[in-house]
Amino acid sequence: MSHLLEERPTAPATDATWWRQAVVYQVYPRSFADSDGDGIGDLPGITARVPHLRRLGVDAVWLSPFYPSALADGGYDVDDHRAVDPRIGTLAQFDDLVTALHAAGIRLVVDIVPNHSSDRHRWFQAALAAGPGSPERERYVFRRGLGVDGERPPSDWTSVFGGPAWEPVGDGDWYLHLFAPEQPDWNWDHPDVRADHLETLRFWADRGVDGFRIDVANALTKHLPATLPSAEELRAADLPDGAHPYFDRDEVHEVYAAWREVFDSYDPPRTAVAEAWVPAHRRARYASPLGLGQAFNFDLLLARFDAATYRTVVEENLRFARDAESSSTWVLSNHDVVRHASRFALPPGTDEKAWLLSDGHDPEPDVAGGLRRARAATAFVLALPGSAYLYQGEELGLPEVADLARADLQDPTWLRSGGTEKGRDGCRVPLPWSAEGPSHGFGPGGSHLPQPSWFADVAADRQDGTPGSTLEFYRTALAVRRRLQTVEELSWVEGTPEGVVQFTRPGGWTCLTNFGPDPVPLPAGQVVLCSGELGSDLVPADTTVWLEDEAGRPSA
Ligand code: GLC
Repeated sequence: MSHLLEERPTAPATDATWWRQAVVYQVYPRSFADSDGDGIGDLPGITARVPHLRRLGVDAVWLSPFYPSALADGGYDVDDHRAVDPRIGTLAQFDDLVTALHAAGIRLVVDIVPNHSSDRHRWFQAALAAGPGSPERERYVFRRGLGVDGERPPSDWTSVFGGPAWEPVGDGDWYLHLFAPEQPDWNWDHPDVRADHLETLRFWADRGVDGFRIDVANALTKHLPATLPSAEELRAADLPDGAHPYFDRDEVHEVYAAWREVFDSYDPPRTAVAEAWVPAHRRARYASPLGLGQAFNFDLLLARFDAATYRTVVEENLRFARDAESSSTWVLSNHDVVRHASRFALPPGTDEKAWLLSDGHDPEPDVAGGLRRARAATAFVLALPGSAYLYQGEELGLPEVADLARADLQDPTWLRSGGTEKGRDGCRVPLPWSAEGPSHGFGPGGSHLPQPSWFADVAADRQDGTPGSTLEFYRTALAVRRRLQTVEELSWVEGTPEGVVQFTRPGGWTCLTNFGPDPVPLPAGQVVLCSGELGSDLVPADTTVWLEDEAGRPSA
């Protein structure tokens, strides 16, 4: 297999469509690799692990926020969008990372967080200092409180993390924060806000960044009437598309049309992908070539591991992507959800929040079955047309660290929900690179979230070169995908046994997933990948197999 890796083609710099079928690997910088022993992952740590990414065979890396931040929301509270958190590195080290990735043929996508800044941002500090009615406050969403002295919030809206969405500043004014209080929302009607973000995009594009992942892309523009509806009124209103006061408003696409001009002023054009939790039919405008160009499809984060569900999700999303003139995206894990090896270890319908509150014991997860299904699902999505987004550690088959002690939790969800939701820290524990050594090879010191002792068993060095390990499975899958991936087409194979989904791709590539409980016959062809153990002529339950059509093989 090694010759495949050596021959890896580096996409030409002028390739404007690299993203359409890319494998994009998400790095959560503070938890990836730590070079200096302070327990927080950093840019030199990532640069040192570029060989791992190259060997894995990814096309691009998406870096979650690495900007200066008080970490009220894991870095999504950005103090300065055009700088690097000194605990994570320097701009020079950022440039080194770009160089190392590009030399390895890997593109770089960075996270842009445009809905809010942090409360330490210089413009928010200026707004606080300047007082009510000042031009400085107009860059954010300030409102007079209700009551004689503004002592009551302008409305009873709640934030995404729980608790009120308005925070008082002590002079009768309140500001809107759809997320944590440390994340004041920008006022996107303000020209300074628009101009500043264009400058941020150019800043990173000029440094060689290939694309952007846009955080909460469906928020940003707001229309808040003089009298605000109550939370209950908003819920009951059954609003037409685009009429919600702060989510998924049509005007947000004017913002992205302006960003598109910036993206297209580069050669090759810079790319973008929207994080927009909107109904599927509203995704198209985010994914339009006149806007961001691509949008996340999170349907598989919510889907049961089930043949009919998976097929429907794929059919719908390929159609949506085609209608939007984009390509689909496939996501099984990211930094906001329970890792898929654990999701698939729980009985369908399990309340994951309650499961986390039980420290992962109620119900007890079927760890082996979860990994089996996770690998099958991964091989399924990697065979689909479109781009696949992988989350760091999934190539090790990492399950969620569900038993983090309450005292160690960092996610604002924990406190803001009044201890009723543990939050997202369990998928953000620093990676185990080695079975032995401090912080399992994460770095020379500790790790900012504690690692469980079982990390030794799943460490990358234990899996490296071990036949059948999840790491080797991912490496093979990505190498075979690179070889077989052609045009963005798929044909379903009908008449398969119950619980089986099978499709072919042009060029003689077949993917079969057995979601059902019983083994099914192995179709004809040369097996080039199997997510589990193949019986002689049978595909066992919870297993995906890829076959290459002998006839479709290019002659040697
Ligand atoms: C996005 C991020 C999430 C963050 C939130 C607020 O959903 O993925 O991690 O907490 O936005 O920025």
